[in-house]
Amino acid sequence: MSALLSAKGLKLAFGGVKAADGIDLDVMEGEFLAIIGPNGAGKTTFINMTTGYLKPQAGEITYRGQKLLGLSPRKIVGLGIARSFQLPQLFTEHTVLENVALAIAARDGIWVPFAPLLRPSVRAEAEEVLARFGLSALAERRGDALNEGARKLTDIAMAVALRPQLLLMDEPTSGVAAADKMAVVETLVRVLRDAKVTAVFVEHDMEVVARFADRVAVWGQGRIMALGPPQQILNDPQVLRDVIGIAPKEASHASA
Ligand SMILES: Nc1ncnc2c1ncn2[C@@H]1O[C@H](COP(=O)(O)OP(=O)(O)OP(=O)(O)O)[C@@H](O)[C@H]1O
Ligand SMILES: [Mg+2]
Repeated sequence: MSALLSAKGLKLAFGGVKAADGIDLDVMEGEFLAIIGPNGAGKTTFINMTTGYLKPQAGEITYRGQKLLGLSPRKIVGLGIARSFQLPQLFTEHTVLENVALAIAARDGIWVPFAPLLRPSVRAEAEEVLARFGLSALAERRGDALNEGARKLTDIAMAVALRPQLLLMDEPTSGVAAADKMAVVETLVRVLRDAKVTAVFVEHDMEVVARFADRVAVWGQGRIMALGPPQQILNDPQVLRDVIGIAPKEASHASA
């Protein structure tokens, strides 16, 4: 496997807060890389820098050898990098199908409001994307009438409709009811593996991390404190104490 995305020496401070304090990370083609770490560690900041929403004060990010810094979020999407948000960014007054259709239209550079919703080819593609996510039954449901699991999947379906090769997901399971969580993750992992999408995801649920991550990066105060396979990282006493918040001896359930 070769590095698809490579970050080197990323730094970004907000006043006295070091949101990125020397981030070096290679994301390998085809892997699922989980980012874990406490609130305020800089996890979202890394996604924002990679996708053009924030510019680091130092460092470099390359994707397939091309420099990303200074490119707009739209340009970066055009290179094959998509993201989903900590809080889903749906058009709540539009249906699930319309939301995905609008993402497809944006990908194709169609910016006439609502016109794309009438195009049969766009609708057909949106229906096909929804079928892959198991969302067909909710196609005509408005965004504001979805439970959190369906809202998250719709948000990710919109990102996948952009046909990315790399997808960065910010807390894809946060707010999803415990009973729905594994089904939501299983669905999105199946879709992403089928489409051969490399994935980076921020996750607070260690069961999800243990089950779906190929590697885990531990963020803390703008730095990567540890990086490795889940069975190693999730049993590291320091990670257990600082990130997961449990004393090592009661941590047997955190193993992969
Ligand atoms: N645009 C901004 N302006 C000012 N401060 C910011 C900005 N973005 C992030 N920060 C600060 O940078 C630090 C890292 O924030 P970030 O959102 O990356 O953390 P996080 O690891 O995603 O946390 P969480 O788990 O709560 O989502 C925090 O102290 C945050 O308040
Ligand atoms: Mg965050």
